[in-house]
Amino acid sequence: MIVAGNWKMNKTPSEAAAFVKELIPRVKGAKSEVVVAAPFVALPGVAEAARGTNIKVAAQNMHYEAKGAYTGEVSADMLKDAGADYVIIGHSERRQYFGETDETVNRKVQAATAAGLIPIVCVGESLAQREQGITPEVVRRQVKIALLGVSAETLLSSGLVIAYEPIWAIGTGKTATNEQANEVCHTIRMLLAELYGAEAAAKVSIQYGGSVTAANAKELFAMPDINGGLVGGASLKAADFEVIANA
Ligand code: PGA
Repeated sequence: MIVAGNWKMNKTPSEAAAFVKELIPRVKGAKSEVVVAAPFVALPGVAEAARGTNIKVAAQNMHYEAKGAYTGEVSADMLKDAGADYVIIGHSERRQYFGETDETVNRKVQAATAAGLIPIVCVGESLAQREQGITPEVVRRQVKIALLGVSAETLLSSGLVIAYEPIWAIGTGKTATNEQANEVCHTIRMLLAELYGAEAAAKVSIQYGGSVTAANAKELFAMPDINGGLVGGASLKAADFEVIANA
């Protein structure tokens, strides 16, 4: 079980470090892996504040090249050195506003695993796609391309996580029902079984994301194919994130 808070473009470096200190006692006994995804500039301070605790640190994006003339970009090695353990890849906001494609997601997954970062790969359908009944195809395609060239060994040794986040549920207060969320996570698990075998598929953590709250986390996380959550809005409040991380 992995519960990750995606702060998006919120919290200055000082606010972020102070927030981690506030979280530490609240999530200390959590049975799940607790992760906070901070803005790039806040990573060193967040990693410092989280050192020696059970809180792991994630970046929200990265570039796929190792270094070079890519003004404004940040590489996997830079994130590692700044104290990140995880990196979110292909969040729907990156796909929607910053031109990310399944192909760039795949390149980032390869670069992240090569650098020893744990990717949290985000997939999910739009409302129109759900209404057209093509959610399984859309999500299968996203996962398949994201994992192109990723061996079973890398899949497992990297700890790669897949986050199913229906776009219509992100930041809207409209959560997928437990059954809807589990159904798509199950589709992803079946695809992983096709690609890597059932044993490997069973070991991959699949998160649900999209308006996870303190009120609905427990039921969502109890579903058989859901191994935790990627939490946006509710991760910005220590009391709410505490409940979710302990759900
Ligand atoms: P939300 O965001 O919890 O605010 O819906 C989830 C996400 O974007 O990961």
